[in-house]
This record gives sequence, C-alpha cells and structure tokens, in this order.
Amino acid sequence: MPGLEQDSRLPHELVYTCTDCGAINEPILVEFPARLGGAKYIRRRCQCMLRKNIEAVERAKNFERTQRYERYFSFSTLGKRFSSKSFENFKASKETAAALRKTKEFVNKIIKATSSDEERAQGVILIGPVGTGKSHLAAAAFNKLKESKACIFVNVPELLERIRASYSSKSNEREDDIVNAVKQCDVLILDDLGSERHKGDDDWATEKLFTIVDFRYRNMRPIFCTTNCQPNSLEDKIGPRIMSRLREICDLTPCLGEDYRYRCVFERRA
Ligand SMILES: Nc1ncnc2c1ncn2[C@@H]1O[C@H](COP(=O)(O)OP(=O)(O)OP(=O)(O)O)[C@@H](O)[C@H]1O
Ligand SMILES: [Mg+2]
Ligand SMILES: [Zn+2]
Repeated sequence: MPGLEQDSRLPHELVYTCTDCGAINEPILVEFPARLGGAKYIRRRCQCMLRKNIEAVERAKNFERTQRYERYFSFSTLGKRFSSKSFENFKASKETAAALRKTKEFVNKIIKATSSDEERAQGVILIGPVGTGKSHLAAAAFNKLKESKACIFVNVPELLERIRASYSSKSNEREDDIVNAVKQCDVLILDDLGSERHKGDDDWATEKLFTIVDFRYRNMRPIFCTTNCQPNSLEDKIGPRIMSRLREICDLTPCLGEDYRYRCVFERRA
C-alpha cells in the first residue's frame, strides 16, 4: 500500500513546508492496529487545506441561501426615491445623531454576525415627527444589508394592503408567500409602523402584524422600525401584545429635528 510505504519513512523525512502558505508541517503519530504495523508517523495535511475546504462548503451554503432568498429581495418596496439613500448622503445633526449611530451599529452588528448569532443584534425603533430622516436611515440600512443578507424593507400599510389583495381570486400572489417572506428573512425593516389602520385589538391588521412580529420575536430575528407615533399612541394603535414584544427586542431611538422636506423646498427657492 502506498500510504504505508510513506509511513515507514523517518519522522524528520515527513516534515514539509507547505507550498501554498509556507507553514512547516510536522508529522503526526497515529496508532494503527498491530496487523497494520502499529504506531506510525504520517504526513500531516496542512491546516490551510482544511480551511480552504471549509470555506468552499460555506460558499456553497451561502449560494444556496441567496438563491432561496432571491424572491425575498425582489419583495422590497423601497421605491425609486429611497433606493439611492445611504449613510454617506445623510447629513448628520445634533437631533439625528443618536438615530444615525444606532442604525449604523445595527447594520454593522448584523454584517459581522455569522448566521448563528445574527439574533444578537438588538433592533431599533426610530421614533420622531414628520420628515426627520427616519425612512432615509431605514433605507440606508437596507441598501447596505441587502449586499449580504436577505433583508426586506416594507412600508407597513403597503404590506397589509398587499396581503389583503392576495385574497382576491385575481391575485397572482399567495398570502403564505408574502407572510413567510417577512417572517423568515434575515432582517425585516418596517417603515411607517402605526400609520396603518387598526380597528381595536383583535382586528385583522393587528392579528396579521402580531403573527409576523411574534414569529420573529420567538425566533430571534431582528426587526428595524420607523414610526411617527409617540410610544403611548403607537401602543394604542398596534396594541399591547405587539408593542411589548417590540420594546423587548428593539431600542427606542429618537430621530428629531425639523422637517427636511421643507428645508429642501426653502433651499430650492433661495
Ligand atoms: N439628515 C438628512 N440628510 C439628508 N437628507 C435627509 C435628511 N433627513 C431627511 N432627508 C431627506 O428628506 C426627505 C424626507 O426624509 P424621510 O422620508 O426619511 O423622513 P421620515 O422621517 O421618514 O418622515 P415621515 O415620518 O413623514 O415618514 C427624504 O428625501 C430624505 O432623504
Ligand atoms: Mg418615513
Ligand atoms: Zn498550507
């Protein structure tokens, strides 16, 4: 057997320098059964080979995941205005500094996390009046995250409308497909939470949102939200069961200042 022939060499003859990474590999002593000659020194496979194999397997797994999530990506309702938003074209101010920092932290934590500890990223609820850049920051997060994660950005009223529309016999979408996508994607960004219509705690919209938020809560999947509502009025809208879960898994972060849309109008006139 060629393998055994090799084993009969002296230990120092089995030392070699890897031509790929330059590591010096000492042989290892292996206990073979007596009929195969007992203990023998054999050449060690270089660690860099093992690492390369692991990386190849990881790449294959990631490819499969991306394929599976492809349809989630196309589900994003970012729209033309927000597809160009980034952290770079967000002008920071005192009033928005905390929101900018929190959003960046959230993104960085998720990008760095491996699939097993993604859940450690605490979510964010950006809360503030009209036009302060909440959706801008949410879109910037999305545009960054989508490079490596299955991330969905949805406007909450639109999401609910889309689910409702799927009930029609003319629809080519199925409720399950939409709901499963937002439940299972790596990161869910809910824009404009609280601007949808709820009719009390047990109405359809509250139930739908609850199923989604509760699934992600139980499975430790991160959620990022923006809202115009103050915490109390948000709770009145979405109900205490959704609110309580969101408060646990997200940090409430103010995003304040003047309405940037007005500023743009004034700058255009000036
Ligand atoms: N700090 C900023 N730097 C650059 N652009 C900004 C900034 N804040 C807001 N904008 C721009 O102003 C417009 C309005 O901002 P955005 O839609 O993010 O506000 P919002 O807080 O989500 O408002 P609303 O509560 O009404 O949804 C967007 O085009 C956004 O890119
Ligand atoms: Mg907005
Ligand atoms: Zn090597």
